Amino acid sequence: MNIFYNEKDKAFKLRANNTDYMMKVCEEGYLAHVYYGNKVPDEDLTYLLRLDESPFTPATNDRDRASFMDTLPFEYPCFGLGDYRESAFKIMDADGMSTSDLRYVSHKMYEGKPKLEGLPATFATEESGCSTLEITMYDKYADIEVVLIYTAFDKLDVITRSAVITNKSEKPFKITRALSACVDFDTDKMDMITLNGSWARERAVERCRLHHGKQLVDSCRGESSHQNNPFVALCDNNADEDKGEVFGFNFVYSGNFYAQAEVTQHKKTRFLMGINPLDFEWLLEKGESFTCPEVVMVHSDEGIGKMSRTFHDLYRNNLIRGEYKDKRRPILINNWEATYFNFDTDKLIDIAKEASKLGIEMLVMDDGWFGHRDSDNSSLGDWFVYEKKLMGGLKYLVDEVNKLGMKFGIWFEPEMISPDSELYKAHPDWAIQIKGRPLTLCREQYVLDYSRKEVRDYVYGMMKKILDSANIEYIKWDMNRQLTEVGSATLPAERQRELWHRYVLGVYDLMDRLTTDYPHILLENCSGGGARFDPGMLYYSPQIWCSDDTDAIERLKIQHGTSMCYPCSAMGAHVSDCPNHTVGRNTPFKTRGHVAMVGTFGYELDVTRIPQEDRDAIPAQIEEFNKFNKLVRTGDHYRIGNMFEDNTWDAWEFVAKDKSEALFEFVQVLGRPNERSRRIKLKGLEADAYYYEENEPDKKISGAALMNAGINIAKMWNGDGLYGDFCSKILHFIKV
Ligand code: GLA
Repeated sequence: MNIFYNEKDKAFKLRANNTDYMMKVCEEGYLAHVYYGNKVPDEDLTYLLRLDESPFTPATNDRDRASFMDTLPFEYPCFGLGDYRESAFKIMDADGMSTSDLRYVSHKMYEGKPKLEGLPATFATEESGCSTLEITMYDKYADIEVVLIYTAFDKLDVITRSAVITNKSEKPFKITRALSACVDFDTDKMDMITLNGSWARERAVERCRLHHGKQLVDSCRGESSHQNNPFVALCDNNADEDKGEVFGFNFVYSGNFYAQAEVTQHKKTRFLMGINPLDFEWLLEKGESFTCPEVVMVHSDEGIGKMSRTFHDLYRNNLIRGEYKDKRRPILINNWEATYFNFDTDKLIDIAKEASKLGIEMLVMDDGWFGHRDSDNSSLGDWFVYEKKLMGGLKYLVDEVNKLGMKFGIWFEPEMISPDSELYKAHPDWAIQIKGRPLTLCREQYVLDYSRKEVRDYVYGMMKKILDSANIEYIKWDMNRQLTEVGSATLPAERQRELWHRYVLGVYDLMDRLTTDYPHILLENCSGGGARFDPGMLYYSPQIWCSDDTDAIERLKIQHGTSMCYPCSAMGAHVSDCPNHTVGRNTPFKTRGHVAMVGTFGYELDVTRIPQEDRDAIPAQIEEFNKFNKLVRTGDHYRIGNMFEDNTWDAWEFVAKDKSEALFEFVQVLGRPNERSRRIKLKGLEADAYYYEENEPDKKISGAALMNAGINIAKMWNGDGLYGDFCSKILHFIKV
């Protein structure tokens, strides 16, 4: 048990590896935040609360209670009682009132971690245990109970949070804000790091100094979004990859989120994360409960890099599930950029034939195999085979691919419905919509109302038919539009605002069914590229398509940003054709391989049509991927270069957990005039050990020298001295 309660001071301490998190129940039952940071031996730090500083002591001097409320660092601040900072919890009661007052009632502590009803969440494993503290808070005026759930992991600097709200009264009330976590920091001297972008340039790293007022990232699109990711790190102003204190927050949720830092009048910072309160309401009838999704909090005292590595360890071991969790993923070839909608059985078999000769292991048939889909303007929802394209049927195609020794994977977009589809003709009310208003198209499609079980059942029935009809071993689950006119044909008026969340719960329900019924299928998530790269999705699919931008150079930034909190082993990354379809850039085939190798690896090109020399390079590229994949999947990831600061080069490293080997990759993004070799310091090695680079076995260098003095990377030229841009190199250091 790594949670402690000190009865005398009514103080809690959660110990997560080298991190302590402390709280205190104040005299009147308010739950106050005391400390979050490196572990300390002391049990009692409650003096930090300055409860003796008048006039902020209601128990002895109640003349200015509102000032007390506006100052106390609350663990779960309520709206309406004088805490004018942003609150975590707000209601609309039967009388139309929005004030609530949650006070401590009791607590319990136990080993392990509870499941969150209907929601993805991290879990304990044998190697990596945890303990949980549940604190029951109660509003005696409104008869509302809120159980705050904290879990501390033993061997990781990770604390997770959630809350369960229950209506104990006879009357219904509405929750209008139910965030999952609040942390009141005692300083404003912090930077906020966020991941922002757009389609094809997801998760660009941005860093700003906190300032007075509110700074937020959020999504109100119904998905976690291309635009902002549900991740925030707050760090020391001078923290960098390797030093400084960092607090990372990531929301295990795939819908509307909200993450806000607020610098208050007293130069403190309140940080909040949870479901976006915008347009959110949830009606709780007597006895009903609402569960808030999980927030993962990671503390690092060794910079941003260590925060990322902790997230990676947690997600690889305690979030991702299924057969492929710890396995090398099959090397796939996807036909999207090869053919778009223009393919048929023969074309796919041609691709598979050539691919199989080169060592590629799986053919993935992307969009366009169903209904009568020849472009993105029809057939979503009609999950039956388009016979004109798949002559001979799906089973014939899959069998032929299997005969070549390859696996077969298929694309679905189960949450969508095209106006031009059988499904829409039969069930126009199944689309999310507001009666009497025109429906907004996005990529020519509407979104299915996944709050309705009959809709989910029907779609799942169609998917099952396909999956049972042939030997399908992989699914790409796509989601290509945001939600508009959010209304359901079946929800009563007082529950319409629940649709945002009910939609996400519906998606999780279907993913749960799919992964339970087909445990052998490898599921890859996708949302117009990387619009749903979030921990919620990782719970169901061990990999997520990182971005529709497959250009190796653009990917340097996208994958760097994604690695802030998501493991490289989960990043869908493919070698594609040149000029690149998104940016028109030509890059060496080798560099494309080196960049894709950092993720799940595969090909997204017409292998029958690429230049012969590229085709010839594939077997060796695959060999290289295989050689290093275990290290990439299980090792510690170190970012060395940073294209957001210097876009002329990039470098990174994967170091084995036992420090016995390291893979170093370098990309010379721009060749620059009169440039000599570049000195780069490696990271994460054993200082006292000696290492050699695989190609120079006689040259032994200490880990200390490699890390403190570094190595020289000479200027590179691609091919026969043709150009110096976009060249890459890998080095493999092995411990003597
Ligand atoms: C999305 C995906 C692509 C591809 C297309 C198909 O954009 O991100 O990889 O599957 O849909 O329509």
